[in-house]
Amino acid sequence: EKDGYPHFMLKEIHEQPTALRNTLKDRIIGDTVDLDNMNITADYLKDIKNISIVACGTAYNAGLVGKELIEGLLRIPVEVSVASEFRYRNPLVDDKTLVIVVSQSGETADTLAALRESKRRGSKVLAITNVKGSSVAREADFIFQTIAGPEIAVASTKAYSTMLLGFYLITLYFGQLLGKEMPKELYSGLKELPILADKIIIETEKQIESLIKPFEGWGDSFFIGRGLDWHVAEEGSLKLKEISYIHAEAYAAGELKHGTLALIEKDIPVIALATQKDVYEKTVSNIKEVKAREGYVIALAQEGDTEIGKSVDQVLAIPKVPSLLTPILTVLPLQIISYYVATSRGCDVDKPRNLAKSVTVE
Ligand code: M6R
Repeated sequence: EKDGYPHFMLKEIHEQPTALRNTLKDRIIGDTVDLDNMNITADYLKDIKNISIVACGTAYNAGLVGKELIEGLLRIPVEVSVASEFRYRNPLVDDKTLVIVVSQSGETADTLAALRESKRRGSKVLAITNVKGSSVAREADFIFQTIAGPEIAVASTKAYSTMLLGFYLITLYFGQLLGKEMPKELYSGLKELPILADKIIIETEKQIESLIKPFEGWGDSFFIGRGLDWHVAEEGSLKLKEISYIHAEAYAAGELKHGTLALIEKDIPVIALATQKDVYEKTVSNIKEVKAREGYVIALAQEGDTEIGKSVDQVLAIPKVPSLLTPILTVLPLQIISYYVATSRGCDVDKPRNLAKSVTVE
């Protein structure tokens, strides 16, 4: 069932172009997103005051990107919470809040409890989920189904990229319902993602030896970026930690000098994401702070960036897309690097120690 791959994780990484294609299918027609089968009405949406996103782990990291999209394009305030915190916090949600729960399995105990608590407080719940007929899917008011297919490996890969895609489609669809002008390039950009995903997977594997070399012998590492890059850095660091057991910290690049820079030492591996146009210069100056302490920097930058190579040790070029769409592409090399770093250390990536695929206890 691994289709010739040594691990489910690698198989699932490679399935992402198809998972994205399937999740997009019939949902963008020309310049319009069609999610009418979610049964959310314009009247309901116009009445909403805020949105609360609740999830765990990788699904939470997808929610961080979701918040930026919704707040940026719709100007609706969004809070993102870890489900295990949300449920015990007397959360600020009511009948004017749309709660979005995100769960690949739809069976995560804390997420399910958060869903129930939200409903008890009068909120309607939209579930972004991959498993049809799961508890979360059954109990939510509205469903966005990701079409990633079964995800077996404990480390989530194709579920994350399709959850992100879900957030893009939902945001554009809500924008349409609310009568807001949505950026046209996002519609065509989304449709191109499956092909570009394929491209970046191939390119990363070509360069994999030199990309994983800097991690050799290290027990610590950093992932940095600003804006959306920071949120993808969070996901990259979670991936590396859970399967390779290398300690990894994700940091908003501008926050480094408020403490973390003290941990940068000669040759420590640092992955820097620098794909966001509006904060590009700022990110590069943060990278220079790391280089000044002799950290080893691998940069993920947009194709055609001829500048960044001067400030870092290695560059991996991400196919050119609007800044808002980079997360689905930048996460792919991070997953692949984590996979190969872990296997080079002899780790059982499909069954990392202490972890279960679906956490049905709190
Ligand atoms: O099934 P869910 O999406 O609710 O699972 C949430 C987390 O347990 C899950 O994403 C976990 O963080 C993964 N092992 C990360 O790779």
